[in-house]
Amino acid sequence: MIHTRICDLLGIVHPIVLGGMGTATTAPLVAAVSNAGGFGTLGTSAFNAATLDTEIASIRERTEKPFGINHLLFQIQEDMFTVTLSAKPTVAAFAWARKDQDLREYFQRAHDVGCRVMYMAGEVPEALRAADAGADVIVAQGTEAGGHVVWMASLPLLPMMVQAVAPLPVLCAGGIADGRGLAAALALGAEGVLLGTRFMATPEAPIHPNFKQAIVESDGHDTVLTEIPDLASQRVWPGAMSRAQRNRFIERWSGREWALRQNAQDVGRQVAAARAAGDIHNASLSFGQDAGLIDSIKSVREVIQDTIGEAETIIKDRLPSLLRQSGEAKKLTSGKKTASKGS
Ligand SMILES: Cc1cc2nc3c(=O)[nH]c(=O)nc-3n(C[C@H](O)[C@H](O)[C@H](O)COP(=O)(O)O)c2cc1C
Repeated sequence: MIHTRICDLLGIVHPIVLGGMGTATTAPLVAAVSNAGGFGTLGTSAFNAATLDTEIASIRERTEKPFGINHLLFQIQEDMFTVTLSAKPTVAAFAWARKDQDLREYFQRAHDVGCRVMYMAGEVPEALRAADAGADVIVAQGTEAGGHVVWMASLPLLPMMVQAVAPLPVLCAGGIADGRGLAAALALGAEGVLLGTRFMATPEAPIHPNFKQAIVESDGHDTVLTEIPDLASQRVWPGAMSRAQRNRFIERWSGREWALRQNAQDVGRQVAAARAAGDIHNASLSFGQDAGLIDSIKSVREVIQDTIGEAETIIKDRLPSLLRQSGEAKKLTSGKKTASKGS
């Protein structure tokens, strides 16, 4: 059994967190992750205050376990944040603040109602800013991730962030879809992982079946960092690119962003219609490079159990088998020396 500080802090069995994904998390997915011993998080960008309230009630009907609510700080709406605060989830999760926003104010209000504060950052200075403002957990998001990202890859970013914000617990997000990723993240100093793409390819995820199948069929090499989806939805994301599949929609506007800006309203409508119809060629498909590690649609429970089982095997069997006793290692080294002397 893998047990880390994050398990105690959040009251969960397994150190696996569902990323609060604006268009891809609803009550059934959030509750399924929490019920399976992980930590479910609801993204809020697809809701208004009234529908958010209903969605939170629906999570509570499905689970008594802890869960979180995620807000994109650059577009946070006061009435929606008030709904979150009144619901008192275990975690108020935040990401993507503008440089001029005061994190301390939001974090304090969340702490005042008893929430833990989680902040996702793609760069060390941003993580330090959140740590200084009182965050309880930092998420190190690498550029491999689906959705909005910056430039640093998880492998160097995670240990840098762990060191920078110590002793705060850090979760690793981006590029993780199985136990190999979990074991690697733990080895680099993370207290757990936060997954997005892997949970999108589950029956519980609220996205069109064609999009789930597109993740299964992706070899992971077919995503790009682009501003095209944001231009089509007329949204200015502070300092981020979007990782999305390089499909017909992206190819049509690539290098012609100026023309997309001129036609954004129409294109935005077409993309929304394509999304509703499950048209994988003309909708914007956000997923991470780890789609290349996902070859089937599995239930949330299976995802969590398989990830934990695989990571345990790596930690218990593979890694110890790489270690040699010091005597054995000496014998090998001296054997090599003798051989080279003789040659
Ligand atoms: C479709 C989609 C929507 C997302 N929306 C949000 C969001 O609203 N808030 C947020 O903090 N992160 C969001 N993310 C990022 C995830 O929280 C997480 O960092 C990422 O999915 C992890 O990488 P992975 O997809 O490789 O697992 C989104 C990701 C995707 C794929």
